[in-house]
Amino acid sequence: MSDINTTNDWLKKDEQYLSNALYRVFRIVAEKGEGAYLYTTDNKKYLDLTSGIGVTQLGHSHPEITKVVQEQVAKLVHVSCVTHHKLNISLAEKLAGILPQGLNNTFFCNSGAEAVDGAIKFSRYIKTGRPNIIAFRPAFHGRTLGATALSSSKIALRKNYDPLLAGINFVDFPNCWHCPVFKDAETCHLECLDLLTRMFKLSLPPESVSAIIVEAIVGEGGYIPAPNHRYNYFKELRKICDEYGILLIIDEVQSGIGRTGKWFAIDHYDIVPDVITMAKGLANGFPIGAFAGKKEYMSQMPAGSHGSTFGGNLVSCSAALKTLEIIERDNLLAYVEQTGEEIKKYLTTELSGIAKVRGFGFMLGVELASKEMVEKIIEDCFKAEILVLIAGTNALRIIPPLNIEKTLLFNALDKVVEIIKKNQH
Ligand SMILES: Cc1ncc(COP(=O)(O)O)c(C=O)c1O
Repeated sequence: MSDINTTNDWLKKDEQYLSNALYRVFRIVAEKGEGAYLYTTDNKKYLDLTSGIGVTQLGHSHPEITKVVQEQVAKLVHVSCVTHHKLNISLAEKLAGILPQGLNNTFFCNSGAEAVDGAIKFSRYIKTGRPNIIAFRPAFHGRTLGATALSSSKIALRKNYDPLLAGINFVDFPNCWHCPVFKDAETCHLECLDLLTRMFKLSLPPESVSAIIVEAIVGEGGYIPAPNHRYNYFKELRKICDEYGILLIIDEVQSGIGRTGKWFAIDHYDIVPDVITMAKGLANGFPIGAFAGKKEYMSQMPAGSHGSTFGGNLVSCSAALKTLEIIERDNLLAYVEQTGEEIKKYLTTELSGIAKVRGFGFMLGVELASKEMVEKIIEDCFKAEILVLIAGTNALRIIPPLNIEKTLLFNALDKVVEIIKKNQH
């Protein structure tokens, strides 16, 4: 190995040896993490309000997770499907206790996109003769070919990849901040549901649809929660799915595992979907994904009809079990739900007339006037050693670790607000 010790040298090598297809937001090289902080090769310290895109729920290198993982690595790393092991069984049992009532059977894989692909295969398998799927615009479900076919948060995801999976039909997501049917909170009677029911009347027989897949809160597409004011969008969607025998898949890859102050964002809507996909925050940074459903449905997929070499491996499962244990032990759901409301109130007041603030818990979006404005704010926050990300075309997203100390978070948000105000023109 040559002696490379400057950030620029690493970035040059990165350009030479890593695929250009992998986009990176900040031109820094991370070296170490501790809680909400990231440290770089040039000895800088950044407050990370991105959590590695909603993954490190308990902050970087949480000591208790590090300990169980180190112990597990020393004991046993991998068996695949050659044998059973206790850790994926325990994790599935634990998930059955925190998932919406009745979702008690889980398939483990390695990532969010794989979880989504698995859920789609599952719905096609058990709903034979129903080749169609409905997805929402502007959803993001991942980068495998299947998940790409379901995604529409930006065109770059799909460009040049045709033909994608057949049978995918898009409906506009019910975005109350830019209503697809031009209603406002006072006049809304969930007319946006007509977009779906009209499709059933005019172009897509509902009996040909196996599943509807939707994010409880649109993530990459702009941090947009579904309506839950006078009307609960998901309750109505659940009724439609029941009427036509369509499976309702809620993609909780980004919104799940306490991110919104409840175990799953769909818990804010008080419905039970047929399938939930999860990944990101489940093991605090160790690769894992999963889809879960009711045993009576899940067991209709016979042994061998789906699989994974690494999925639900012992190391990731040990990290996941510890992550869930700590979220529960430290009452982080209540902390995130309440602090999230305080942040929302604070940002709404401070940014009145400048931004639209929305979301639940620590999954908050701050919609601003333009993409350029958001990009400039992100750049200025970076100069102030705070990492924040864009969502959709023009929203800033706030996704700190669930256990971030309140004072630290509010001090950082003071700075972010100051930067937003400075950039408002
Ligand atoms: C809602 C949602 N689904 C699926 C995915 C894909 O997850 P992964 O990148 O782990 O494949 C993401 C990633 O951002 C996501 O936000």
